[in-house]
Amino acid sequence: MKDLKRLIGRIDQLPTLPTVATQILSIVDDPKSGARELVYVISRDPSFTGNLLKRVNSAFFALPRKISDIGQAVALLGSNFVKTTALGVAIFDIFGKSSRPGEPPREDFWRHSFAVGTLARQIGQKQPDVNAETAFAAGLLHDIGHLVLECFDPVDLKLAYAIADADEVPLPEAERRAMGTTHAEIGAELLTLWHFPSELIEPIRFHHRPEECGQHPQLARIVAIANYQCNRYGFTRGVKRSEPALPESTWASLAVPRPEIEDLTQAMAITEQEEDKVGGKFA
Ligand SMILES: [Fe+2]
Ligand SMILES: [Fe+2]
Repeated sequence: MKDLKRLIGRIDQLPTLPTVATQILSIVDDPKSGARELVYVISRDPSFTGNLLKRVNSAFFALPRKISDIGQAVALLGSNFVKTTALGVAIFDIFGKSSRPGEPPREDFWRHSFAVGTLARQIGQKQPDVNAETAFAAGLLHDIGHLVLECFDPVDLKLAYAIADADEVPLPEAERRAMGTTHAEIGAELLTLWHFPSELIEPIRFHHRPEECGQHPQLARIVAIANYQCNRYGFTRGVKRSEPALPESTWASLAVPRPEIEDLTQAMAITEQEEDKVGGKFA
Protein backbone atom coordinates (compact mmCIF):
# COMPACT_ATOMS: atom_id res chain seq x y z
CA MET A 1 0.00 0.00 0.00
CA LYS A 2 2.07 2.88 -1.26
CA ASP A 3 -0.52 5.51 -1.95
CA LEU A 4 -4.03 6.44 -1.07
CA LYS A 5 -5.43 5.24 -4.41
CA ARG A 6 -4.13 1.74 -3.93
CA LEU A 7 -5.28 1.90 -0.38
CA ILE A 8 -8.85 2.73 -1.37
CA GLY A 9 -8.72 -0.21 -3.78
CA ARG A 10 -7.97 -2.41 -0.84
CA ILE A 11 -10.56 -0.82 1.37
CA ASP A 12 -13.12 -1.74 -1.28
CA GLN A 13 -12.50 -5.35 -0.33
CA LEU A 14 -13.60 -4.65 3.22
CA PRO A 15 -16.91 -6.06 4.32
CA THR A 16 -19.71 -3.56 4.00
CA LEU A 17 -21.08 -1.80 7.02
CA PRO A 18 -22.93 -4.48 9.05
CA THR A 19 -26.70 -4.47 8.79
CA VAL A 20 -27.14 -3.74 12.48
CA ALA A 21 -24.89 -0.65 12.11
CA THR A 22 -26.89 0.55 9.09
CA GLN A 23 -30.10 0.07 11.05
CA ILE A 24 -28.69 1.92 14.05
CA LEU A 25 -27.56 4.80 11.83
CA SER A 26 -30.99 5.10 10.26
CA ILE A 27 -32.76 5.49 13.61
CA VAL A 28 -33.90 9.07 13.91
CA ASP A 29 -32.96 11.20 16.88
CA ASP A 30 -36.47 11.31 18.19
CA PRO A 31 -36.12 10.68 21.94
CA LYS A 32 -39.32 8.59 22.13
CA SER A 33 -39.71 6.50 19.00
CA GLY A 34 -35.92 6.55 18.41
CA ALA A 35 -35.18 4.97 21.78
CA ARG A 36 -37.87 2.31 21.28
CA GLU A 37 -36.55 1.43 17.85
CA LEU A 38 -33.00 1.30 19.15
CA VAL A 39 -33.90 -1.16 21.90
CA TYR A 40 -35.77 -3.27 19.34
CA VAL A 41 -32.95 -3.35 16.76
CA ILE A 42 -30.27 -4.21 19.32
CA SER A 43 -32.24 -6.72 21.39
CA ARG A 44 -32.98 -8.87 18.33
CA ASP A 45 -29.37 -10.08 18.36
CA PRO A 46 -28.50 -11.67 21.71
CA SER A 47 -24.75 -11.99 21.15
CA PHE A 48 -24.53 -8.38 19.96
CA THR A 49 -26.58 -7.33 22.99
CA GLY A 50 -24.19 -9.20 25.29
CA ASN A 51 -21.19 -7.49 23.70
CA LEU A 52 -22.79 -4.10 23.99
CA LEU A 53 -23.78 -4.56 27.65
CA LYS A 54 -20.21 -5.52 28.45
CA ARG A 55 -19.07 -2.14 27.08
CA VAL A 56 -21.85 -0.19 28.69
CA ASN A 57 -20.95 -1.70 32.08
CA SER A 58 -17.38 -0.49 31.59
CA ALA A 59 -15.48 0.65 34.65
CA PHE A 60 -15.28 4.28 33.44
CA PHE A 61 -18.81 5.08 34.45
CA ALA A 62 -18.91 3.77 38.02
CA LEU A 63 -22.54 2.80 37.51
CA PRO A 64 -24.41 2.09 40.74
CA ARG A 65 -25.51 -1.33 39.48
CA LYS A 66 -24.98 -3.65 36.60
CA ILE A 67 -27.08 -2.89 33.55
CA SER A 68 -28.57 -6.10 32.28
CA ASP A 69 -30.79 -5.04 29.40
CA ILE A 70 -30.74 -2.47 26.64
CA GLY A 71 -33.88 -0.71 27.88
CA GLN A 72 -32.16 0.00 31.21
CA ALA A 73 -29.05 1.18 29.39
CA VAL A 74 -31.08 3.68 27.38
CA ALA A 75 -32.91 4.89 30.49
CA LEU A 76 -29.69 5.35 32.49
CA LEU A 77 -27.22 6.52 29.86
CA GLY A 78 -29.42 8.01 27.15
CA SER A 79 -30.25 6.72 23.70
CA ASN A 80 -27.51 8.72 21.96
CA PHE A 81 -24.84 7.19 24.11
CA VAL A 82 -26.18 3.67 23.58
CA LYS A 83 -26.55 4.32 19.85
CA THR A 84 -22.92 5.38 19.43
CA THR A 85 -21.56 2.58 21.59
CA ALA A 86 -23.65 0.06 19.64
CA LEU A 87 -22.27 1.47 16.40
CA GLY A 88 -18.72 1.08 17.76
CA VAL A 89 -19.38 -2.54 18.81
CA ALA A 90 -20.87 -3.37 15.39
CA ILE A 91 -17.98 -1.77 13.50
CA PHE A 92 -15.15 -3.15 15.66
CA ASP A 93 -16.78 -6.62 15.37
CA ILE A 94 -16.09 -6.61 11.62
CA PHE A 95 -12.41 -6.79 12.31
CA GLY A 96 -12.70 -9.94 14.38
CA LYS A 97 -12.17 -10.67 18.01
CA SER A 98 -8.47 -11.37 18.11
CA SER A 99 -5.60 -9.23 17.03
CA ARG A 100 -2.68 -10.48 14.92
CA PRO A 101 0.48 -11.92 16.47
CA GLY A 102 2.68 -9.07 17.65
CA GLU A 103 -0.31 -6.76 18.11
CA PRO A 104 -1.60 -5.90 21.58
CA PRO A 105 -4.86 -7.59 22.60
CA ARG A 106 -7.99 -6.18 20.96
CA GLU A 107 -9.26 -5.43 24.44
CA ASP A 108 -6.59 -2.72 24.75
CA PHE A 109 -7.80 -1.19 21.51
CA TRP A 110 -11.33 -1.06 22.93
CA ARG A 111 -10.20 0.44 26.21
CA HIS A 112 -8.22 3.16 24.41
CA SER A 113 -11.06 3.92 21.98
CA PHE A 114 -13.68 4.03 24.69
CA ALA A 115 -11.52 6.19 26.93
CA VAL A 116 -10.85 8.68 24.12
CA GLY A 117 -14.56 8.74 23.24
CA THR A 118 -15.59 9.23 26.86
CA LEU A 119 -13.12 12.05 27.48
CA ALA A 120 -14.00 13.71 24.16
CA ARG A 121 -17.65 13.59 25.20
CA GLN A 122 -16.90 15.16 28.59
CA ILE A 123 -14.87 17.96 26.99
CA GLY A 124 -17.62 18.35 24.38
CA GLN A 125 -20.22 18.84 27.10
CA LYS A 126 -18.30 21.92 28.26
CA GLN A 127 -17.61 23.28 24.78
CA PRO A 128 -20.53 25.40 23.56
CA ASP A 129 -19.99 25.02 19.80
CA VAL A 130 -19.83 21.21 19.54
CA ASN A 131 -22.21 18.32 19.99
CA ALA A 132 -20.88 16.14 22.82
CA GLU A 133 -22.35 12.96 21.33
CA THR A 134 -20.59 13.61 18.02
CA ALA A 135 -17.36 14.14 19.96
CA PHE A 136 -17.97 10.76 21.62
CA ALA A 137 -18.53 9.02 18.28
CA ALA A 138 -15.45 10.63 16.71
CA GLY A 139 -13.35 9.71 19.75
CA LEU A 140 -14.63 6.13 19.80
CA LEU A 141 -13.84 5.59 16.10
CA HIS A 142 -10.72 7.78 15.81
CA ASP A 143 -8.24 4.88 15.39
CA ILE A 144 -10.45 2.69 13.18
CA GLY A 145 -7.83 3.01 10.42
CA HIS A 146 -5.43 1.15 12.66
CA LEU A 147 -7.74 -1.88 12.65
CA VAL A 148 -7.87 -1.69 8.85
CA LEU A 149 -4.08 -1.82 8.69
CA GLU A 150 -3.87 -4.60 11.24
CA CYS A 151 -6.30 -6.76 9.23
CA PHE A 152 -5.51 -5.76 5.65
CA ASP A 153 -1.93 -4.57 5.58
CA PRO A 154 -0.04 -6.06 8.51
CA VAL A 155 3.25 -6.12 6.59
CA ASP A 156 3.34 -2.36 6.02
CA LEU A 157 2.13 -1.78 9.56
CA LYS A 158 5.03 -3.83 10.91
CA LEU A 159 7.40 -1.79 8.78
CA ALA A 160 5.90 1.39 10.22
CA TYR A 161 6.45 0.08 13.76
CA ALA A 162 10.06 -0.73 12.93
CA ILE A 163 10.62 2.78 11.55
CA ALA A 164 8.91 4.37 14.57
CA ASP A 165 11.15 2.40 16.95
CA ALA A 166 14.42 2.76 15.02
CA ASP A 167 14.05 6.46 14.20
CA GLU A 168 12.09 7.36 17.33
CA VAL A 169 9.40 9.13 15.36
CA PRO A 170 5.66 9.18 16.12
CA LEU A 171 3.66 6.36 14.49
CA PRO A 172 1.77 8.56 11.97
CA GLU A 173 5.11 9.88 10.70
CA ALA A 174 6.49 6.31 10.44
CA GLU A 175 3.32 5.18 8.63
CA ARG A 176 3.72 8.02 6.15
CA ARG A 177 7.29 6.89 5.46
CA ALA A 178 6.34 3.21 5.19
CA MET A 179 3.19 3.48 3.11
CA GLY A 180 2.61 7.08 2.11
CA THR A 181 -0.45 7.49 4.29
CA THR A 182 -1.52 7.17 7.93
CA HIS A 183 -4.07 5.24 10.00
CA ALA A 184 -5.92 8.55 10.44
CA GLU A 185 -6.35 9.03 6.68
CA ILE A 186 -7.25 5.38 6.19
CA GLY A 187 -9.94 5.60 8.88
CA ALA A 188 -11.35 8.73 7.24
CA GLU A 189 -11.45 7.02 3.83
CA LEU A 190 -13.27 4.03 5.29
CA LEU A 191 -15.93 6.21 6.89
CA THR A 192 -16.26 8.17 3.63
CA LEU A 193 -16.91 4.89 1.84
CA TRP A 194 -19.61 4.13 4.38
CA HIS A 195 -21.18 7.57 3.86
CA PHE A 196 -20.61 8.79 7.39
CA PRO A 197 -21.08 12.53 7.97
CA SER A 198 -18.11 14.88 7.56
CA GLU A 199 -18.32 15.86 11.23
CA LEU A 200 -17.02 12.37 12.02
CA ILE A 201 -14.75 11.91 9.00
CA GLU A 202 -12.74 15.13 9.27
CA PRO A 203 -11.91 14.99 13.01
CA ILE A 204 -10.75 11.39 12.49
CA ARG A 205 -8.62 12.36 9.47
CA PHE A 206 -6.95 15.13 11.47
CA HIS A 207 -6.77 13.65 14.96
CA HIS A 208 -2.97 13.82 14.93
CA ARG A 209 -2.76 17.29 13.32
CA PRO A 210 -5.92 19.10 14.37
CA GLU A 211 -4.71 22.56 13.38
CA GLU A 212 -4.89 21.51 9.71
CA CYS A 213 -8.55 20.51 9.94
CA GLY A 214 -10.63 22.88 7.79
CA GLN A 215 -14.08 21.46 8.55
CA HIS A 216 -15.10 20.87 12.18
CA PRO A 217 -11.75 21.95 13.66
CA GLN A 218 -13.10 22.09 17.23
CA LEU A 219 -14.11 18.44 17.08
CA ALA A 220 -10.69 17.56 15.67
CA ARG A 221 -9.04 19.44 18.54
CA ILE A 222 -11.19 17.70 21.13
CA VAL A 223 -10.41 14.24 19.72
CA ALA A 224 -6.70 15.08 19.44
CA ILE A 225 -6.58 16.32 23.03
CA ALA A 226 -8.58 13.36 24.34
CA ASN A 227 -6.25 10.97 22.50
CA TYR A 228 -3.16 12.76 23.82
CA GLN A 229 -4.46 12.78 27.38
CA CYS A 230 -5.57 9.13 27.32
CA ASN A 231 -2.14 8.03 26.12
CA ARG A 232 -0.49 10.07 28.87
CA TYR A 233 -2.71 8.55 31.56
CA GLY A 234 -2.19 4.94 30.53
CA PHE A 235 -5.26 4.40 28.38
CA THR A 236 -3.00 3.34 25.54
CA ARG A 237 -3.62 0.89 22.73
CA GLY A 238 -1.23 -1.40 24.56
CA VAL A 239 2.04 -0.03 23.21
CA LYS A 240 3.86 2.93 24.64
CA ARG A 241 5.15 5.07 21.79
CA SER A 242 6.27 8.67 21.75
CA GLU A 243 3.27 10.95 21.61
CA PRO A 244 4.19 14.37 20.20
CA ALA A 245 2.92 17.33 22.19
CA LEU A 246 0.03 19.23 20.64
CA PRO A 247 0.58 22.86 19.68
CA GLU A 248 -0.44 25.44 22.26
CA SER A 249 -3.07 26.79 19.83
CA THR A 250 -4.96 23.47 20.00
CA TRP A 251 -5.50 23.87 23.73
CA ALA A 252 -6.04 27.62 23.58
CA SER A 253 -8.81 27.36 20.95
CA LEU A 254 -11.12 25.47 23.29
CA ALA A 255 -13.40 27.10 25.86
CA VAL A 256 -12.39 24.43 28.38
CA PRO A 257 -9.16 25.36 30.20
CA ARG A 258 -6.32 22.85 30.12
CA PRO A 259 -6.28 22.24 33.92
CA GLU A 260 -9.94 21.27 33.73
CA ILE A 261 -9.17 18.73 31.00
CA GLU A 262 -6.34 17.45 33.17
CA ASP A 263 -8.82 16.99 36.06
CA LEU A 264 -11.31 15.18 33.83
CA THR A 265 -8.65 12.72 32.64
CA GLN A 266 -7.38 12.15 36.14
CA ALA A 267 -10.91 11.51 37.41
CA MET A 268 -11.48 8.97 34.64
CA ALA A 269 -8.25 7.13 35.51
CA ILE A 270 -9.11 7.10 39.23
CA THR A 271 -12.64 5.84 38.58
CA GLU A 272 -11.32 2.99 36.48
CA GLN A 273 -8.70 2.07 39.08
CA GLU A 274 -11.25 2.05 41.88
CA GLU A 275 -13.72 -0.02 39.92
CA ASP A 276 -10.95 -2.49 39.10
CA LYS A 277 -10.01 -2.67 42.78
CA VAL A 278 -13.56 -3.60 43.69
CA GLY A 279 -12.69 -6.70 41.72
CA GLY A 280 -14.39 -5.85 38.45
CA LYS A 281 -17.69 -5.83 40.28
CA PHE A 282 -19.56 -6.32 37.04
CA ALA A 283 -17.35 -9.09 35.72
FE1 LIG B 1 -4.33 7.74 16.14
FE1 LIG C 1 -5.53 6.88 19.53
